[in-house]
Amino acid sequence: MTGPAASDPVYRTDALIARDIDAWLELHRHKSMLRFITCGSVDDGKSTLIGRLLYDSKLIFEDQLAALEADSRRVGTQGEALDFALLVDGLAAEREQGITIDVAYRLFATEKRKFIVADTPGHEQYTRNMVTGASTADLAVILIDARKGVLTQTRRHSYLVHLLGIRTIVLAVNKMDLVDYDRTVFDSIVADYRDFADRIGIGAFVAIPISGFKGDNITEASANTPWYEGPALIHHLETVPIETDTDQARPFRMAVQWVNRPNLDFRGFAGQIASGVVRPGDAVRVLPSGKTSTVSRIVSLGGDLDQAVAGQSVTLCFADEIDCSRGDVIASASAPPQVADQFEATLVWMGEEALLPGRAYWLKLGTRTVSVTLQPPKYKVNVNTLDHLAAKTLELNAIGVAEITTDRPIVFEPYADSRTLGGFILIDKLTHATVAAGMLHFSLRRAQNVHWQALDISRDMRARQKGQTPRVLWFTGLSGSGKSTIANLVEKKLYSQGLHTFLLDGDNVRHGLNKDLGFTDADRIENIRRVGEVARLMTDAGLTVLTAFISPFRAEREMVRAMMADGEFIEVFVDTPIEVAEARDVKGLYAKARSGQLQNFTGIDSPYEAPEAPDIHIDTTVTGPDEAAEQIVRWIFDASG
Ligand code: ADX
Repeated sequence: MTGPAASDPVYRTDALIARDIDAWLELHRHKSMLRFITCGSVDDGKSTLIGRLLYDSKLIFEDQLAALEADSRRVGTQGEALDFALLVDGLAAEREQGITIDVAYRLFATEKRKFIVADTPGHEQYTRNMVTGASTADLAVILIDARKGVLTQTRRHSYLVHLLGIRTIVLAVNKMDLVDYDRTVFDSIVADYRDFADRIGIGAFVAIPISGFKGDNITEASANTPWYEGPALIHHLETVPIETDTDQARPFRMAVQWVNRPNLDFRGFAGQIASGVVRPGDAVRVLPSGKTSTVSRIVSLGGDLDQAVAGQSVTLCFADEIDCSRGDVIASASAPPQVADQFEATLVWMGEEALLPGRAYWLKLGTRTVSVTLQPPKYKVNVNTLDHLAAKTLELNAIGVAEITTDRPIVFEPYADSRTLGGFILIDKLTHATVAAGMLHFSLRRAQNVHWQALDISRDMRARQKGQTPRVLWFTGLSGSGKSTIANLVEKKLYSQGLHTFLLDGDNVRHGLNKDLGFTDADRIENIRRVGEVARLMTDAGLTVLTAFISPFRAEREMVRAMMADGEFIEVFVDTPIEVAEARDVKGLYAKARSGQLQNFTGIDSPYEAPEAPDIHIDTTVTGPDEAAEQIVRWIFDASG
């Protein structure tokens, strides 16, 4: 008998709608669920195998077996969101971000268990798809063509699967019919794989000789492989322990999704239990604050519970009124997770634009979103050879290890212990695209050890003494646009009015504080970060600060704005078209850039992102420097009231 074709309507239907998933889950309510990923390419017989699994699981007709194209759906109503999360939680957040990931999820069930298979394309450029599929899987089926043995892509898939924390691996040696069910072929492939698995730390795996096409060892032991004594594939999938079972043995943790407060008499904290067990009367600790209380009730849709375990979504009530909000983690009081703000992490880069060290991204971990910056990678990994390579950045699909720093402490666990509290995604602050998936290794320092030095003289006191509101006038524009000229005039006017000012200018700062920086994107980001920090210290000292830097990227200007108190950052766009700046060419740099003597010159071969809504806009083609300065000074005095 031959297997069904990939286009066979029996097992491949249209995108699933929430109601169908509900019905399907309801139908198999009493069965445990195994999520797995299949790794291999069409050539290895992957579609045939998946087709065969679905076809042979017999229940397809009753189940209306369906294919779910993850990116074809958007989270809509509350009900839909819940169902959707059931299927693809973990990196579900990343899907909400709208990245187009080519992962098909298929559902099927046997009498013993229900299954969700993540099917991803196998080529190298699809690393990010595989990461998405693997991040929620309990088990991976690594498919090998018996005629070809262990290939580079087998190693790459296994490395990724291991990296993403899948500890249960099945080596499916396929197309055994094409090697005459030869035991020596099978044994030598298994030995090869054993060697490789040892190198990357894969402990146990189960190897099964199969033929997806002929059906050998899929549902039952094949007469063609009398020398094989292990389980048939489906039997193994039905009986292998599922990791969520082991999650229950770990200490209790639940990230708070939302605070349920319908009226003054009820206050509960809703979320999905990441690990452990909780019962009324248990002592719990809320992190990062560290406040403790006791669980008074466990509320669920079906009524109050005596206990709840990993994987369940519940609402907890406390005996005391302690602070607890979305993003906090409720944990066992005696075994809480760590809190830190500096980490080493593995990153799988998914953004079209490469990692920019120093740039601020959003980091989303569990229900918490914070701002994060990354160091240049310590190394990147050649996933084919597993060599560590020196790297300044990570491009699309690259995997590397880097240090990261969050702007406030977060509750975490190493990814090896908890996917929920150790796995995160990075989001570009401007485009909102997901640019990386990451796994925390360990903290580099505990947040508790670093405290702000509390100063007796406050910034308010310093500003009051000077009789002014601290401010940063941030001039941005092309080289030669007139930033320094106008900033200079503005400073003179403010000074003569008795204000305490300071002017930070690109050309000057680059001779001292920033003399180690050039004009690559990364260096410009670092330039602006340092200038931002200095400007902030100066506002803490109560000064009116003027800065004149090209500051070509929106993201860093916004980063500096976010560093300042509300209303203290004033973006002044000195708008001079490139033709005009180039025609003036005060420093002769445009000529050099055009002739190729100067690289990465802003406006020529390096971008300038003009402000979209500057606080002050100076069009230098119609406004001269004196008039511009006058306008800015007036703006400041108007704002000061
Ligand atoms: S920024 O991009 O990092 O904000 P910054 O304002 O500090 O730049 O420095 C810009 C000044 O450096 C220019 O006005 C120019 O005099 C000089 N310069 C030298 N090389 C370059 C370059 N490749 N691109 C832009 N400016 C350059």
